[in-house]
Amino acid sequence: MKFPTKLHLANLPTPIQQVEYKNTKFLIKRDDYTGSEFSGNKIRKLEYLLVDAKRKKAGTIFTCGGEQSNHCRATVLAASKLGIKTKLFLWGKKRKHATGNLLISNIMDVETEFLTLKQYKNVNSIMAKQSDLRKASNEKVYIIPTGGSNAQGVWGYINFVEEISKQPEFKKSKGILCANGSGGTIAGILLGFAIKGIRKKIFGVNVIGDAKEMIGVINSIVEECLYTYKLKVKADYSLLELMDGYSNEGYKRTSPEKVCLIKDFARQTGIILDPTYTGKAFYAYNEIFLGKNKRNNILFIHTGGLFGIFAKSKLFFDN
Ligand SMILES: Cc1ncc(COP(=O)(O)O)c(C=O)c1O
Repeated sequence: MKFPTKLHLANLPTPIQQVEYKNTKFLIKRDDYTGSEFSGNKIRKLEYLLVDAKRKKAGTIFTCGGEQSNHCRATVLAASKLGIKTKLFLWGKKRKHATGNLLISNIMDVETEFLTLKQYKNVNSIMAKQSDLRKASNEKVYIIPTGGSNAQGVWGYINFVEEISKQPEFKKSKGILCANGSGGTIAGILLGFAIKGIRKKIFGVNVIGDAKEMIGVINSIVEECLYTYKLKVKADYSLLELMDGYSNEGYKRTSPEKVCLIKDFARQTGIILDPTYTGKAFYAYNEIFLGKNKRNNILFIHTGGLFGIFAKSKLFFDN
C-alpha cells in the first residue's frame, strides 16, 4: 500500500524498552522520544497534516485544544519550523504566568484566543468563521481539528503500526494499551492493524468522553480516512476495548492516587508519565495488568505529554 507523503519531523523509529515495576517485566514503546520540543504522539500526525498544509500553501494554521494541549504546542513548534504562523483556540483562561505547554506557545509568540467550555463546544464553527474572514483578505488558513485527529493526521498512527510491526519485541506481545483523547491515535492503530492483518488487542483508556461517545468519534475518523484515501480495508472493532473510569476526576484534573503512582513509577524506573494522559492510562495498566505475573505481554505506549507535569507542579511538590 502506498502511504501519503509526509514530512520528517519526528525522531523515528522510537525504541521499545523493557521495564520492571511491581515485580513484573513489561514493554514500553517510547513515543515520548519523538523529539524534545516535539515530544509525544502529536508530531506523528503533524508529519502528514503539515505536508498537506504546505501543499495547500497555507500561511496560517488554526488549531485548538485545552490550554495545556500537547497537540497545540507541537503544532506551533512544527509550523514555525516551516515558516507557517499558528493561531490557537484554547479552552481555558489567560493566565499571568504561563507554564507547561502554554509557556512554550508563549515563547513562540503565538496568537491565542481563550474560550470558555461552552464556547469551546463550538470551536470548529468558530475556527471556520474566522478562517472565512481571513480568506476574504487573501490569507490562506489551514484548519487542524482537536488532537490532529482527521483523515490526514491518522496516517501518523497507521505509520506507527508499520514501524512497530518491524520491531521484534512487538511480535511477542499480545496487544497494546494507550491513552485515548481525541481518538486519532486509536483510529490510526485500528487502520494500521487492518492494513497489516495484525490481530492483537488494543486497549484505549478514555481520558475525556466515555466509551459510548468515543467509539463514534473513532469510527468517524476511520471512515473519513477510508473515504478520503479510498482504502479497501475494514477496521476490526472486536480488537478494541475502550476503558472508562480512569479519569473520573475530569480531563483537567489528576487524582491524588494517580499523582502517587506517577511519582512511584518515576522513582523506580526513571520514566516520567504525564498527569493528563499517560498517567491515567498507566493507572489502568497498573490495576489490570501489573503485579499478577512476572511478565506481562501487553505493550504500554508512552504517548508523551511531559510538559503537562510543569503545569501541575503544586500537585507533585511534596513528599
Ligand atoms: C500525551 C498524549 N497522550 C495521548 C493522547 C491521546 O491521543 P489522541 O488524541 O490521538 O486520542 C494525547 C492527545 O490527546 C496526548 O497529548
